[in-house]
Amino acid sequence: MPVLHEIGTLVTGRPMAAPGTLERIDDAALAWEGETLRWVGPARELPARWRDAPRWSAGGGVVIPGLVDCHTHLAFGGWRADEFEARILGRSYLEIAAAGGGILSTVAKTRAATTRELAERCRGHLAAMARLGVTTVEAKSGYGLTPEHELRLLEVYQALQASTRQRIVPTLLAAHLVPPEFRDDPGGYTRQVIEQIIPEVARRGLARFCDVFVEERAFSVADARRILEAGRRAGLRPKLHADQLTAGGGAELAAEVGACSADHLECISEAGIHRMREAGVVAVSLPFASLYLGVAPLPARRLLEAGVPVAVATDFNPGSAPSYHLPMAMTLACTLQRMTPAEVLQGATSIAARAVGLEDQVGTLEEGKSADFAVLDADSVEHWLYHLRDNACTRTVARGEEIWRATP
Ligand code: NIG
Ligand code: FE
Repeated sequence: MPVLHEIGTLVTGRPMAAPGTLERIDDAALAWEGETLRWVGPARELPARWRDAPRWSAGGGVVIPGLVDCHTHLAFGGWRADEFEARILGRSYLEIAAAGGGILSTVAKTRAATTRELAERCRGHLAAMARLGVTTVEAKSGYGLTPEHELRLLEVYQALQASTRQRIVPTLLAAHLVPPEFRDDPGGYTRQVIEQIIPEVARRGLARFCDVFVEERAFSVADARRILEAGRRAGLRPKLHADQLTAGGGAELAAEVGACSADHLECISEAGIHRMREAGVVAVSLPFASLYLGVAPLPARRLLEAGVPVAVATDFNPGSAPSYHLPMAMTLACTLQRMTPAEVLQGATSIAARAVGLEDQVGTLEEGKSADFAVLDADSVEHWLYHLRDNACTRTVARGEEIWRATP
């Protein structure tokens, strides 16, 4: 039952009465037993039973809840640096996709990779994320697009979960794109997702969420509704890639089906914002995707002012967002989306936890929750997100165990 002491400032992640402000405790301590936080408060008030416990020092730094990356496409084969360059030279993401590049080129590379290669790459990415303070990672399938290959990606996540302290939240994204085999019969693929893939994934407990890419070149609102409802009946909670490249009624559908989150939303309509607020859907902003595709970022201020909670995630994938650097995405959310550092910290902790349905376990530092936290070599959260460095995180603890420590 260790104690973390010499905490300059502890940011619990709990909101204060004034909007956009966070609870902070100076000269704090944190104590846990096994995986569970047992005491959080000013060091001078640490109860006597913890006085002789093993002590870990935060070195006077800032301690924040472990970061939650609530939207990633973690498992994929290959990269697409060639498309990065093509877009710089003026080709659009949709043109590249229409010419056989984009998501389908990653599908081909992912199918060709061995399960072991996929798992090893994911393990490397997870370790790099641990060094940045990330303790929970949502991970989508979506580069398999056959029953066999979609299940294989989810099996990779299941196997990884058995060997990492980080929490992995698996999401089925079989409805990412219609695969080449069904080019002339897209309805046939939707049926396969509903009749074969969803039931098998649910039966084997391989995913918690079902996601659909709602876009002109991907799935229509009507198909997405059928897929998400089939997922929900099987016990998979709905999530959507919505209104990314065009305003297509994705946010409205998210509200209608009671989605846990709607993600991207660069092109969200006013009606979509209001429907999401009424239905309590979390908006997940993905600033890397807006930046890399050169589209205007989601209108975070309009969403926040309308009362929609806004999370921040990386969207890590080989096309639109080839980085897992969540702190950098958080800084971009400040600058591109005009969210304050406090709003962004909540967006990558407590609100992100809601987006993956884990708000009872992670996202804030409170007694009874998981001992997931990061120690930052910074004066404050504001200073951390403003003075962007390669890495300010000196120690990461997930479920009570250290998963990263910088060499002093
Ligand atoms: O979230 N929008 C669809 N899917 C991904 C991109 C995947 C890719 O380009 O490989 C996204 O941006
Ligand atoms: Fe995505």
